[in-house]
Amino acid sequence: MTTTLVTGIGLLATQTDEHGELRDAALVVDGDFVTYVGPASGAPDADERVDLGGGTVLPGFVDSHAHLVFAGDRAEEFAARMSGQAYAAGGIRTTVAATRAASDGELRANLARLADELLHAGVTTFETKSGYGLDVATEQRSLRIAREVTPETTYLGAHVVPAGADRAAYVDLVCGEMLDACAPSARWVDVFCEVGAFDADETRHILKAGTDAGLEARLHANQLTESEGVQIAVELGAASADHCTHLTSADIDALAASDTVATLLPLVEFSTRSPYPPARALLDAGATVAIATDCNPGSGFSTAMPLAIALAVREMRMTPAEAVRAATVGGAKALRRNDIGWLGVGARADLVVLDAPSYIHLAYRPGVPLISQVWRNGRRVA
Ligand code: NIG
Ligand code: FE
Repeated sequence: MTTTLVTGIGLLATQTDEHGELRDAALVVDGDFVTYVGPASGAPDADERVDLGGGTVLPGFVDSHAHLVFAGDRAEEFAARMSGQAYAAGGIRTTVAATRAASDGELRANLARLADELLHAGVTTFETKSGYGLDVATEQRSLRIAREVTPETTYLGAHVVPAGADRAAYVDLVCGEMLDACAPSARWVDVFCEVGAFDADETRHILKAGTDAGLEARLHANQLTESEGVQIAVELGAASADHCTHLTSADIDALAASDTVATLLPLVEFSTRSPYPPARALLDAGATVAIATDCNPGSGFSTAMPLAIALAVREMRMTPAEAVRAATVGGAKALRRNDIGWLGVGARADLVVLDAPSYIHLAYRPGVPLISQVWRNGRRVA
């Protein structure tokens, strides 16, 4: 296996407790993994050398929440929203019609384009969901196509009840034939627990069916209204409660006392012109926080993880260090992964190189393309 010595790192923010932030650092990559992190002066030699010329190195971003398998867009809905119309769960059905009508090739091409956008935004691992098929065949092919590009696939047959369907019969389908068809291509099961989507009892029932089939739970919770969603996520030991926009202090305490990660999606609040989630209260209470893009055609059509970080700092009062942590190791925790989201011996060699003296510039210079290189599994990919 070829080894590579990476030097010229002005600042290395490892996201580990032992090293934290190192200046004038080096790292050595052997195959897919990191075998040395530390001062450049003490680095071992390697087969190849790469000099980064003084930039900042971070672990590759981990996008633990996205919806990338779909066809069409909803630009008109966005424009109407900017003129005052409220976001509602029902818009999902527009994308369902376009997705059902699309061929596998079209869905694959759309997904590939968004995956490439994510890579250029510094995202080296992403999760993606089904949920724009809402029939057995389209949910199943959505997940098969997703599985071709990421192991982090989520069955979201319970996104909304499709137009014309009987509610109870649809919940039975999601927990029965559709689940059986989708489970082989899914790691996770998710439900949109929300007014206009699924209520608390339905959510418990569907998550339970999914976990009985061997999937792990995550949940869309408390996006548009306060609800039981967060409490259900904690009660069922979900890896993550996602959105967390409308929380009570009991919700914050429950998250802080649990292993369930609070995954915040500020690009959605930006795109739906909504209040941002209470990140400061969550962090101060001791909850684990992740930031993800939630890229989807309705509530936020953006792959810009650096912008999500900037919004977390500017609008949600996270420090730049907290926001970067949430976009790396926080996302990894939300996916129950310990090989990514940090840089140290044994970690996967997934890195982002910023053409900036510090990661603070991600928020200080919002919208500016600071990412100069992206490495995945020890190789430069962007
Ligand atoms: O995470 N909340 C549910 N699902 C997406 C939105 C889906 C859509 O509007 O198409 C979300 O915001
Ligand atoms: Fe979502």
